Amino acid sequence: MEPVKVCEGIYWVGALDFGIRDFHGYWTNSGTTYNAYLVVDEKITLIDTVKDPFVPEMLGRISKLVDPAKIDQIVSNHAEDDHASGLPQVLRAIGHEVPVYCSPAGAKALDGHFHLPINYREVKTGDTLGLGKRSLSFLETRMLHWPDSMFSFCPEEGILFSNDAFGMHLCTFERFDDEVPECRWLPEAFTYVANILAPYTGLITKLIAQVTEMGLADKIKIIAPDHGFIWRSDPLRIVKLYAQWAKQEPSRQATVVFDSMWGATKAMAMHLGEALAREGVPALVRPLKGSHRSSILTDCYASGAVLVGSPTLNNTIYPTVADFMCYLKGLRLQNKVAGAFGSYGWSGESPKILQAMLAEMKYNLPAAEIRQQWVPRPEDFQPLTEMAKAVAAALPRK
Ligand code: FEO
Repeated sequence: MEPVKVCEGIYWVGALDFGIRDFHGYWTNSGTTYNAYLVVDEKITLIDTVKDPFVPEMLGRISKLVDPAKIDQIVSNHAEDDHASGLPQVLRAIGHEVPVYCSPAGAKALDGHFHLPINYREVKTGDTLGLGKRSLSFLETRMLHWPDSMFSFCPEEGILFSNDAFGMHLCTFERFDDEVPECRWLPEAFTYVANILAPYTGLITKLIAQVTEMGLADKIKIIAPDHGFIWRSDPLRIVKLYAQWAKQEPSRQATVVFDSMWGATKAMAMHLGEALAREGVPALVRPLKGSHRSSILTDCYASGAVLVGSPTLNNTIYPTVADFMCYLKGLRLQNKVAGAFGSYGWSGESPKILQAMLAEMKYNLPAAEIRQQWVPRPEDFQPLTEMAKAVAAALPRK
């Protein structure tokens, strides 16, 4: 339970959660961390707290530096439970009514969660807070990814406390970017953007432009997010990756996602994947049995095409496919080519339902949905071959 020095007077005092897997529907295969930071200055300041069960771990780390009762003020960059549910427990442990600095939307959200007489001090973009030798300036980052989200920047040390942004769900004992090999963190960073930030990529692009215009990018020496490790050796690396991933540029790759009742829709998915490969479109064939929705979503984010197959069950799509489509819709992926297919016995509604759902998501549908009654004969695969050609033609050449 040792704190980790970020720079002289500023320490990581967060918590490690190796065990979490279901993070509001996103399968966090590598756990996560809840990062909180203690600034030991004339005003001892805690930046963010942690998920409630991890408060004793955080207070244990703080106790190695100062008596927690000596904390003068708290900054809450984000009200979501993984960072703020520990706030009431922290305030009880501190034993006095310290001010809690947060955005106006943060005060509303925290009050809506806790219904406690907390001493909120609302701050807006451009406001500053003196800590002694150091200060914090605030930048609201509305809808990245909640209305209350904000950054806190310490200009004297060049540290950006970026909350959810520039983080990832990856739990390691190592606390800095230069201590974790790229092969471990890069897929987790991409997965995090796809599953958390996808609906807001337009705002990411604007925020990065705003930060650059403000001259902030040149002043950042360290990015200290609230999940994963701290960027100290090349802090702008993750900013550049976000800028690239936020473009959602179409790639010549397809994800074929499906479930199957008795194997006919699976046979269609396999044929479609092979036909796409013949057209020069690498296909990731992803059965919903055995693949988590969030890992398939990550593949979809990386792919220019999303092909969805479902058998018809009780006049509608299969339950696992419905679950995936709900998740896909919410994350509002951009610039996708799509298609729908599925087998049926007598009514056969599922491909039409899928096609309508994909159209509602504003995906480009270059072929009509494909319905297959019972089990396909060899000649029945021809429409899927044609769909593969249409999808390939709609994707960029490279
Ligand atoms: Fe890590 Fe939006 O909470």
